Amino acid sequence: TVVEEVPGDYELGGFPDYMAKEIAEQPEAAQRVLRGRLDERLGTARLDGLRFTARELRGIRRVKFLGCGSAYYAGQVGAGLVEELARVPADAEPAAEFRYRNPVVDPDCLYVAVSQSGETADTLATVEELQRKGGRVVGAVNVVGSAIARECDSGVFLHAGPEISVASTKAFTNMAVAFALLALTLGRVRDLSLAEGRRIAGALAELPERIGEVLAESDRIASLAGRFADAEHVFFLGRVRGWPVAREGAQKLKEISYVHAEAYQASELKHGPLALVDPAMPSVVLIPDDELAAKNLGTIEQVKARGGPVVAVTTTGLAVPGADDVVRIPSAGPELDPVLLTIPLQLLAYHTARKLGRDIDKPRNLAKSVTVE
Ligand code: G6P
Repeated sequence: TVVEEVPGDYELGGFPDYMAKEIAEQPEAAQRVLRGRLDERLGTARLDGLRFTARELRGIRRVKFLGCGSAYYAGQVGAGLVEELARVPADAEPAAEFRYRNPVVDPDCLYVAVSQSGETADTLATVEELQRKGGRVVGAVNVVGSAIARECDSGVFLHAGPEISVASTKAFTNMAVAFALLALTLGRVRDLSLAEGRRIAGALAELPERIGEVLAESDRIASLAGRFADAEHVFFLGRVRGWPVAREGAQKLKEISYVHAEAYQASELKHGPLALVDPAMPSVVLIPDDELAAKNLGTIEQVKARGGPVVAVTTTGLAVPGADDVVRIPSAGPELDPVLLTIPLQLLAYHTARKLGRDIDKPRNLAKSVTVE
């Protein structure tokens, strides 16, 4: 069984397809997930839907994000943010893997069930399993009134608006932004300083504007699509903050263009996958504006030395010698750069799929919401 969303009054409004529309809507969507939830003066966030007291927030010793597909990758971005801003150990796992391995449920862990539709069967079953075992589970859901939203007693709504295209874009972005709010909240009841909290809150407040600036690069990114449309295989390489971004970028490209894409941690390249690099296999290398930038430039050299074409996507102002093409976008600060870096990869996948004449909103074999196990 497949739940098909009915567009209703959600019209295309001049866009060629829903994916283009939903990509373009991201600044307003991000604005909505932030609305009323930022306290810039106190450098923190308020997620009233979580219904946790400060003492309860302090009692959380671990955070685990559970979801499927893009929701899982967004959870991985979230885990990075929670560890970074709150110094609370965090990770993400595909919901079905978690539920089928008879998980050890930790009473001090905050489990976050992540789902655009709120109907994904494996994520819903994970919530039920957690509740049976006395775990503390909250939802991060877009569709109000959906099964997961109803099953979780508390949570954070994503407010991305209806997402019709099978490939998730604005919901992914809003998941990551919501997790930044969660990380900030957890951080500020711990050791994240007022000054740092204000810096992050300020960067979040400006994020919708930054997203708009990234979208302005769409034509430039479209001009690179030929490189990928002609390829049989593409690597997406990133490390630490860039790693979940690479995974989401590879996912977008495969699901809508059917070009085989694989994400790899840049550091693991030399332990095997480098053998695949040749002039026919382009790599997208992610370079967030962080302390690992020099290492990422080294990755480009490794790929180039084997004749592999490189498209670098970066929030740094650094020169990127060696890259065949560089997509430069503004930075939102190292912590939030993963959110911005995902957007050029959405555009890259989109323009590649268009060039190949794919049915962008309804890729073959896929459904928007997988309500079977
Ligand atoms: C399907 C969709 C993906 C989505 C995943 C999880 O596989 O094709 O785009 O990321 O389900 O969906 P959810 O609604 O739970 O976020």
